[in-house]
Amino acid sequence: MTQNIRFSVDGDGIAILLIDVAERPMNVLTPGFRKDLAECIDKVASDPSIKGAVIGSAKSSFMAGADIKDMAGAFERGLTAREAAGFSGELNRLLRRMETCGKPFAAAINGVALGGGFEVALGCHYRVIEDSPKAGVGFPEVKIGLLPGAGGTQRTPRMIGVTEALRLISEGKQIGPQEALKKGLVNEVAPAPEIIGRARQWILKGGEGVQPWDKKGFRVPGGAGMMSPAAAQTFMIGTALAAKTTMRNYPAPAAILSCVYEGTLVPMDAALAIESKYFGQLLSGPVARNLMRTMFINKGAADKLARRPAGPPKSQVRKLGILGAGMMGAGVAYVSAVAGIEVVLLDSTLELAGKGKDYSKQLLAKDVGRGRKTQADADTILARIKPTVSYEDLAGCDLVVEAVFENREIKADVTQKTEAVIPKNAVFASNTSTLPITGLAQASKRPAQFIGIHFFSPVDKMPLVEIIVGKKTSEDTLARALDYVGQLRKTPIVVNDSRGFYTSRCFGTFVYEGMAMLQEGVNPALVENAAKMAGMPVGPLAVADEVTIDLQWKVIRQTEKDLGRKFQKPAAYDVVQKFVEELKRPGRRFGAGFYDYPKDAKKRLWPGLKDVFPQAPMQLPVDEVEKRLLYIQALEATRCMEEGVVTTAAEADLGSILGWGFPAWTGGTLSYIDMIGIRKFVAECERLAKRYGKRFKPSKWLKARAERNEPFHGGGSQKAA
Ligand code: NAI
Repeated sequence: MTQNIRFSVDGDGIAILLIDVAERPMNVLTPGFRKDLAECIDKVASDPSIKGAVIGSAKSSFMAGADIKDMAGAFERGLTAREAAGFSGELNRLLRRMETCGKPFAAAINGVALGGGFEVALGCHYRVIEDSPKAGVGFPEVKIGLLPGAGGTQRTPRMIGVTEALRLISEGKQIGPQEALKKGLVNEVAPAPEIIGRARQWILKGGEGVQPWDKKGFRVPGGAGMMSPAAAQTFMIGTALAAKTTMRNYPAPAAILSCVYEGTLVPMDAALAIESKYFGQLLSGPVARNLMRTMFINKGAADKLARRPAGPPKSQVRKLGILGAGMMGAGVAYVSAVAGIEVVLLDSTLELAGKGKDYSKQLLAKDVGRGRKTQADADTILARIKPTVSYEDLAGCDLVVEAVFENREIKADVTQKTEAVIPKNAVFASNTSTLPITGLAQASKRPAQFIGIHFFSPVDKMPLVEIIVGKKTSEDTLARALDYVGQLRKTPIVVNDSRGFYTSRCFGTFVYEGMAMLQEGVNPALVENAAKMAGMPVGPLAVADEVTIDLQWKVIRQTEKDLGRKFQKPAAYDVVQKFVEELKRPGRRFGAGFYDYPKDAKKRLWPGLKDVFPQAPMQLPVDEVEKRLLYIQALEATRCMEEGVVTTAAEADLGSILGWGFPAWTGGTLSYIDMIGIRKFVAECERLAKRYGKRFKPSKWLKARAERNEPFHGGGSQKAA
């Protein structure tokens, strides 16, 4: 009996190993588990009375994979490529010992076997999986910038061929039991209570403890290397596709291709050494660290409501009021109804309120069409939304989300009408995207119960919610807003009040920088493509057209009015004004912006751009354009930290990736600076400021931080990109 594996031997001489990793809700590959597995394998191999072994799980799932916190922690401590390769090498030797010890091993998979967990199963000679929609296998490593480092890149192609293996490993998708059986990744699918029995039966019937690749004359199914036409084609196309989809910002897909290509040409032991080498390079590189830190660890903490004040008791929204059934109100109604909340959807006419409800109807019909929901479930969800024009219907709401026009007077009016009917302890939240919350709260009789809950469009797809705390917002209100976001299963960040808050403010600098370059004479195609090459989902000019240039002009004018003499013209002031007032090209919705939108063809950059902004004879190098577009956003994020708008680096990072599409490979705005090195970043900003304008000037606060060489994320050595 070991601490992490329950070991027993039955009357037929079959060892049963039930994985039960101590102090973890899910089985993961901890150092303790690896030690215990080694001990169990030795026992099975050396005890002549043991015929073979079945590996199963004592928890609800077989195994989730590597311990990501442990791996990310190793990186923060300054892990080298060699040490990282050693981590993979140790596991590879262990599983290799299992498959070559001469005794048959069978895996009985309940729930999921993912990543390292699936690799343990692949190291067995036989696999039975539970027949359940919750069960599955897969390699999610690529999503955190890694590759399967415990034999997955080598055993999989030897079982199902390089083409199928590459698809499975590079896409990172989980597949169900039947598909796994069809592909040849498992040998049997059985009802849950029978999986261990079936695995035992296989051993008792003489199951062989030798893998196909350890037999003489083994060949990779479908062939390997450049001499095999099918494999050659897969590698050639795969390399081009990986370059296209990652823009070479993510090293894992290319490393997976190299690893499978090189590894399938040599015997298994050499192949595993190749895998460990590539794994080491990825694990010690900055991209995997960034992805693990932000998309796994910090996102996980935010999802668990890490920023929720501990004092107030846990709350739940049962009845939600929504003011304004437009684009945002309709989206909030849908996600809330799906989460089981009763929704009152109010607009100025019943027709408009009904239109807002129709949005949910359409989304639910799509879900039913795709088999994701039954008609009965869809009907239940839809019945939770009540369209209305009457404020009386808001009585009894725990929370009200206001999403009427972006106009202070209208917002004040609906706030007062609502407060007249809702319970005294209800929370009132505004979904405003730009208006400071403290100012809006002046219309409220209960400013302590007033807060900003800023959703992103389209609400059903965007995972982030930015919670804005006004000057008078209470801790209880913050806790209740966070509990609501938790009910919706979205990721919250908490920021303090400021114009544009955190996300809109930083994102604005990206759009304005693109326009500023246009004005300088940079080729607009270069601007748009460089943005995508840096990893932004769309170019700044295309995105300006989408949100409409007109809206940006309104925001700029409103800010100018509000700030008076303190107003500073953004870099793109003249461009925005010209497009709206002079050229009358206010954005996509109006049929013309920086792009043309022909009815029967794809959109294209407006050919007239070059007449309005003559192109410079000498164009900027593409990496300079990329740098300007990313640096300006990261720099604005540091200003938000300095001013206390955003208070943790983790939230600044998460908000940037999930809120406006800052490239995930950077780890987010502040991880990006840490990756470059804060000193180098500040020096570059000084250079950019001299060349392109004072918007790039680092503040005294940032310069002092650079002098102390103090990264935004504590601990560990920071490696240059
Ligand atoms: P919208 O124009 O699509 O919808 C606003 C709705 O409010 C309309 O249906 C309108 O009839 C209704 N309305 C206006 N005055 C009303 C009143 N006095 N009583 C009842 N209903 C009234 O606008 P959208 O895009 O949904 O934006 C709503 C709010 O959300 C704004 O504050 C906006 O800044 C904010 N927001 C918008 C985002 C976007 O991407 N569109 C993103 C995040 C926030």
